[in-house]
Amino acid sequence: MLFFSCALFITLAVGVHLVPYFPSVTSFLSSGSSSSSDSSSSVIVNRDSCFSLLHQVAFDFQELSNNSKRGSWKWIESENVVDCDFQKLTKNDASDLLNGSWVVVAGDSQARLMVVSLLELLLGESKMEIIKKDLFLRHCDYNIFVDEIGMKLDFIWAPYMSNLTDLIMGFKEKKSYPDVFVMGAGLWDMLHVNNASEYGVSLKSLKDSVVLLLPVSSAFANGDGFRSPNLFWLGMPKLISSMLKTDEKREKMDDVMWQAYNDELYRSKLLQQSGGPLFLLDVHSLSNNCGADCTSDGMHYQGAVNEAAVHIMLNGLLIESNQKL
Ligand SMILES: *[C@@H]1O[C@H](CO)[C@@H](O)[C@H](O)[C@H]1NC(C)=O
Ligand SMILES: *[C@@H]1O[C@H](CO)[C@@H](O)[C@H](O)[C@H]1NC(C)=O
Ligand SMILES: *[C@@H]1O[C@H](CO)[C@@H](O)[C@H](O)[C@H]1NC(C)=O
Ligand SMILES: *[C@@H]1O[C@H](CO)[C@@H](O)[C@H](O)[C@H]1NC(C)=O
Repeated sequence: MLFFSCALFITLAVGVHLVPYFPSVTSFLSSGSSSSSDSSSSVIVNRDSCFSLLHQVAFDFQELSNNSKRGSWKWIESENVVDCDFQKLTKNDASDLLNGSWVVVAGDSQARLMVVSLLELLLGESKMEIIKKDLFLRHCDYNIFVDEIGMKLDFIWAPYMSNLTDLIMGFKEKKSYPDVFVMGAGLWDMLHVNNASEYGVSLKSLKDSVVLLLPVSSAFANGDGFRSPNLFWLGMPKLISSMLKTDEKREKMDDVMWQAYNDELYRSKLLQQSGGPLFLLDVHSLSNNCGADCTSDGMHYQGAVNEAAVHIMLNGLLIESNQKL
């Protein structure tokens, strides 16, 4: 496919690197869209509909000789989805896309699984095996600089909402912002705090701190929902109570509590889907789709789910940078 020619990706790398944190770029983007002609506004509609189709994936299973199953995934082949031309990025494509950028993934165990999948794509599975041990040191940060592509990736163990808010304040203080920032916390909070209304309060202050970080906060106030695609929220997975490993988990992490936490997420208006700044990587929909075969402990899902989340994120970055239309 010509589509993924090198030239496109070199421009894209610049895009990921600059957008959206600097006012000059932001105002360039907004004036670009407000002075758009009819044809480019239809592009924007298209773009929005492709964003909304990103999670239309299906899972499939292959029986392994040892009686376990390996899941794989692909985008469904409905006409609308095919029109968006989503692509599973190869190692090279993903490397071009993230060349020279600073990626931060912060949150609880779900965020760590996202890092595993992203690094598996960028480094290959065998290199990944070597670093997995360090990455999985419990409750620790992990930092890696991928030489070949000059990419810095920080995983930050931030299991509570307040940890995420602190992190954002830190970026603001240092005036140093990642190019791609994926955050998500909920599971740990549900187990250790187990209070949805408190979670909601912290989500709102998280949202306020994200909005302060962005140079386009007035756009939110006007309700025109400026899109900052380089900010992602990593949703909580589907919890399968009967498979959870401890009594405490089974008691505290049931469907009712999950729903209460999720309701707070929408109420906080943190997500673009409710007019906020973060694009949801909908791990719940993906894990629910993949089903009980994809998890052994009812809360952490195997590769296919996280791999899909990574490719959805990368395709989100592609759409946003207008490389696809
Ligand atoms: C079955 O084999 C696959 C790969 O060969 C391995 O990843 C998986 O852990 C094995 N499952 C069990 C239950 O031993
Ligand atoms: C990353 O970008 C630099 C220049 O910006 C280029 O020299 C290098 O070859 C790129 N690396 C990859 C793997 O694309
Ligand atoms: C995260 O927040 C909790 C509660 O506010 C705090 O006790 C903990 O030290 C923080 N962890 C990190 C890594 O900052
Ligand atoms: C949840 O937290 C709120 C605010 O701190 C408190 O008023 C409420 O009693 C808590 N709910 C439960 C079930 O502990």
